[in-house]
Order: sequence, then structure tokens, then C-alpha cells
Amino acid sequence: MNAIESVLHEERLFPPPKEFSAQAHIKSLAQYKRMYRESIEQPERFWAKQAENELVWFKRWKRVLQWKEPVARWFDGGQLNVSVNCLDRHLDTPVGNKAAIIWEGEPDSVSKPGEERVLTYKQLHREVCRFANVLKRNGVRRGDRVLIYLPMVPEAAVAMLACARIGAIHSVVFGGFSAHAVADRVCDCGAKVIVTADGGYRRGTIVQLKKNVDEALKMTDERGRRLGRTVEKVIVLRRAYNEIHIEEGRDVWWHRELEYVTADCPPEKMNSEDPLFILYTSGSTGKPKGIFHTTAGYLLGAKMTTKYVFDLRDTDVFWCTADVGWVTGHSYVVYGPLANGATTVMYEGAPNWPEPDRFWRIIEKYDVTVFYTAPTAIRAFMKWGEEWPRKHDLSTLRLLGSVGEPINPEAWMWYYEVIGGKRCPIVDTWWQTETGSIMITPLPGATPTKPGSATLPFFGVAPEVVDDQGRPVSPNVGGKLVIRRPWPSMLRGLWGDMKRYQEVYWKEVPHAYFTGDGCRRDKDGYFWIVGRIDDVLNVAGHRIGTAEVESALVSHSAVAEAAVVGRPDDLKGQALVAFVTLKSGIKPTRDLREELRQHVTKEIGAIARPDEVRFAEALPKTRSGKIMRRLLKSIAAGTEINGDTTTLEDFSVLTRLSQAEED
Ligand code: WTA
Repeated sequence: MNAIESVLHEERLFPPPKEFSAQAHIKSLAQYKRMYRESIEQPERFWAKQAENELVWFKRWKRVLQWKEPVARWFDGGQLNVSVNCLDRHLDTPVGNKAAIIWEGEPDSVSKPGEERVLTYKQLHREVCRFANVLKRNGVRRGDRVLIYLPMVPEAAVAMLACARIGAIHSVVFGGFSAHAVADRVCDCGAKVIVTADGGYRRGTIVQLKKNVDEALKMTDERGRRLGRTVEKVIVLRRAYNEIHIEEGRDVWWHRELEYVTADCPPEKMNSEDPLFILYTSGSTGKPKGIFHTTAGYLLGAKMTTKYVFDLRDTDVFWCTADVGWVTGHSYVVYGPLANGATTVMYEGAPNWPEPDRFWRIIEKYDVTVFYTAPTAIRAFMKWGEEWPRKHDLSTLRLLGSVGEPINPEAWMWYYEVIGGKRCPIVDTWWQTETGSIMITPLPGATPTKPGSATLPFFGVAPEVVDDQGRPVSPNVGGKLVIRRPWPSMLRGLWGDMKRYQEVYWKEVPHAYFTGDGCRRDKDGYFWIVGRIDDVLNVAGHRIGTAEVESALVSHSAVAEAAVVGRPDDLKGQALVAFVTLKSGIKPTRDLREELRQHVTKEIGAIARPDEVRFAEALPKTRSGKIMRRLLKSIAAGTEINGDTTTLEDFSVLTRLSQAEED
């Protein structure tokens, strides 16, 4: 969006509908401001009150916050269990018999609908306790790491909550990641057990999850040691009934194991600061970072934001379309909705399989009231046409959410008019894997919205836009988005690498958490996120580190050097363009180009596959040898390369031309 366009849109203010505000948790901008002020002026008092009201504790904390930059400790001395907060606390209330999870599997075809399953809170509690006992039976103890690599089935939530129940730390890996990615993560977190499935369904094909795990567990590092040597057991869920290999002594079936356990599993008393999960996400350098979150602060953030941002109440059916492999799935498919006693919808498949109306069909079928998805999906729906949503009754919807990337005003308006029937407020929520829960967002009964702006900070969050020296910039001037003070659901570090944590987040701007995003604030104090300003790309709402894709490319025997940049893409926000130089004697062919794309899929996963591979004689570099990414970016954004797909790009001329500018 250019500056003029956004200024024009700023003029359009969408106040919350009166009927909505009247019933909302936060009913007016003044009420939000009052609470926000209290959260900033008296944070410890504010958070103590919230922790007391929102969570159930075995033991009360001694200290609300202990802050030694860059490490925060929240509610130290307190003891609680996340699964108790998500399940047990509801059992003796009317919520106990209510649907906790409504799940729908991917349909085979238009005429053969997907399976349906509903788990009430009581049933989910029982499944979690049983599976927690299965984990124990297979050697999992408090503090052990469990890697979860499952399709979008209720068992994914069961496995996460079962870990939480016994104090094991889960690390969920998105089912679209490759064997290699699994191996790297297993190795980094030292997982003792892997929970996976024979296969999962995606657009009519079976994703070979178990086969990937088998491969991952065979992989070795440079010194010949197995990456998965810490893994003692693999627990396999029967899902796709495809043929798989079972390794005696290591692999066990989920359903068989259940025969040996009871549903009695007392929750472990966890300390507030005990780790709850590790989630890997791309950074600007090196391998993915193991972001870890702890028990009390994370849960409080997930619970409060779900309650206030989605204005949750008893009658809501909440559907966040994210996969549990991403942080959005952790906080807004599992922990946030369940901690609030809501009904959460899980769907296994793709939005356009077998037809582009999957989502609208599900909303109609289950009377979804609050719907949360990503701009990239919204833009795809726009392209597929209004006729698909128009076929369905979407009148149960009362609130819409957006997350993952900046939403362009056109997509915002389409979402508002076609899906929300001009009746539903839209919450454009900015946050990150690192922040654990939503940070900048409208509160739907209180905040007037502007299409394209995530608006104002959530309680206790102190964001700022600063220049390169760390000084706040004036309104409407672009800068770096930082956060000034600790918040309960912030990451506590990078697993096994606190030094990197300090360097990545706390060095760029002194005494502030650096988000990696560019931003400007308008005259009303509204935040407008521009997107990543580091070497992380946002492709279809997924974070992809250019360094990771580059190292995947150079691991191919034909490649000498690679540089990956983003170019604007109407649908995905950004598309991946790889510039590649080949080892001498190797011919740049169309086949090789495809082979390289497949190679990245194998190394990381399809989400990181370059949209375009361009061969070059050499990469443009500054005199000091740094790749001139800015130049590559503008080349990538420029005209499509011509029909001859084997053309080599000769950068030597460009290098000379732009040397002055870059040096
Ligand atoms: C981007 C996803 C603009 C941003 C929850 C951030 C957004 C990265 C928004 C985090 C939004 C997320 N507006 N940009 N509403 N939400 N982003 O860790 O660049 O997968 O840094 O967490 O997504 O991606 P992550």
C-alpha cells in the first residue's frame, strides 16, 4: 500500500456497531483507555488482578514480575497446570457437557463429506488424561521434550494438553515440513518421544508423516551422529490407514497403548516459569530458532486476548483456521479458547478442496460466530469469486479476525462486506510467535477501525516506532517497531541459546525488544505495520528465513551460491525468488530449475519452495563481499524474465552501476 492510499483509507473510520458494543466485554474507547492506562501505570497490580481472576492456581505466586533484561519471570513462586485451566476447571460447570472441539476432516469429494467429531469438555478431559498416561508409560517425565508431528485432528490438541498435564514440553512441527526439518528440530530440542500419524489428508492426497519421521531418524550430522538419537519412542496415530513401517521396540500405536491405561491422571503442579512449549520459527540467520514459552504468563496472555479481542462469550463457536503447527494454532485453536470454555472448530483440509467454499460451508454447518483467518486466504477467496460465500448462510458470524501479515484495505473491505455482511467488526491482530499472544489489535466493542491498521496496543503492551538510533519518530514517519517493557506471554528465550536470544532481540535497539517489523504510527496513535525489515519473508502468512532457503539451495550439488529475496505477490503477499549461480561445467536448464525447487521442498517443506529460480553468472556484491539484496529485490520485482527459461542473468554490469549506491 502506498502512502497516499493509506492516508485516504485513514479517513475511513469504522466505529464499532452500537449493538455490538452494548454487549461487549469492553464497551467503549474510554473504557479501553482507562484499563490500558492502569495496565501501564500500575502493571504489577493490573497483572496480579488478572492472574487471580482468569487462572486457577494450586499455589499463589510470591512476586508478580522480576525483570532482568532480557529475561522476565512472571508470577514466580506460583503453581498451576495448563490442562487444569483448560479442562478440569470447566467439568463441574455447565461447560462440562458442551462441545470443546468440533472437528471436521477433509472430504474425499463433493459428494462424500468429511468425517465429523465432537468432543465435549468431559470427553476431551478423559482423552487427555488417557494419553498423558500413555506418554508416561512410554517414559516421558516432567521436563522431557515431546515432538508432535500430526495432521489437524483433535489428537493434536489432545497430545499438547497431555504434555501440559504431566509437565512435558511439547514442540509441535507443522505437518507440511519435511523429514529434514523434523530431524533438525528433534535434534535441537533433544526430543525423547515423537507423536505422529501414519498419514494426514491434504487436497485429496496423503501426507506421509510417519515415513518422514522414519527418514528423519536416520539422518546424521557432519560427524556421522544420528540427529534423532535422543528419541526412544514413536507413538503413531492411525489416521489415513496407509501402509507404514513399524520399527519393533521403538514404534507403538496410539490406539493400542490406550488399552493399557486408565483415565486417571493427576495433573503435575507446574511452576509459573516452567517451560510449556518450544516452537521453531525462522529468523534472519541460520537455522530456525526454538522460541520457548512458559506456563503462567503464556496462558494468561492467550486466555485474556481470546476473551477481549474476540469478545468471547458462552454462546460463541470460535473458528481460527490456523494449523496447530503455528503459534496461532497454539494460542487460538487450543489454549485460548479452551481456557475460556469456548467451542473451538478444527478443520483438517485446505480451503479450496474439493471446492472453494469449504470455509463458508463449515461456518454455515456449525453456526460459527467468530472467524479468524489470514489475509492471504482472504485474497484467495476474493479471486475465487463472491459466488462461493454467497451460496451459504453466514448470518451467524458476529466478528471477524485477521492475522499473519498486513491486510491490504481492498481485502479488508471485501472481508467486511462479503463475509461480514457489513455487520461484523474486523480485528486486525498483530503479534508473533515470540509474543505468545496478540499485541496490537482493536477491541471490537471499543476501537474504531481503519482498514489496514492493527490500531492500538493490548493491555500492558508498550509498542513504539523508533529510528536507527532508537529514538521515537514523529507521527506518520516509518521506523522500527519495538516493545518497551516485558509482558506476561513474551518468549523467555531461545531453547539452549540465550546468547542468541539477547543478540537477535535486544541488541538492535537498546533496552527494547526488537520485533523485526517496520511500522508507522498515525496522528491518532494507530499502528500501521509495514512488514518485515529483516531477512525474513512473509509468504502467504508464513515466516520464511531467506538464509534457510539459501542454505537448502547450496546443499544441492549443482549450486555454487544462492541469494533469496522476496517480490510482491498479489495473493501471497510476497513470493520467493532465488538467484542461483551454478558450479562450473553445470548447465542451467529448465529441469535443473525444477529440481532445485523440489530440492528445497525436500529440505524444508513446500512452503519454502521458491516461486522462481533465476540463474546468474555471479551474484552482485559490494566490494566488501556482501550480496546486494536491495538490488536483487528490485530486479526480482521488475519485469518477469523472458520466455527463455535458461537465460543467465549477468550481474557484472549492474554491479558496476550500483556500486556507488551500495557502498
Ligand atoms: C507478521 C504470527 C501485519 C509480522 C502470529 C510479524 C503481521 C510476523 C500481522 C509474525 C498483522 C503478523 N499485520 N503483520 N496483523 N500479524 N504479522 O511468528 O511481520 O508466524 O513479525 O506469528 O507476521 O509471524 P509469526
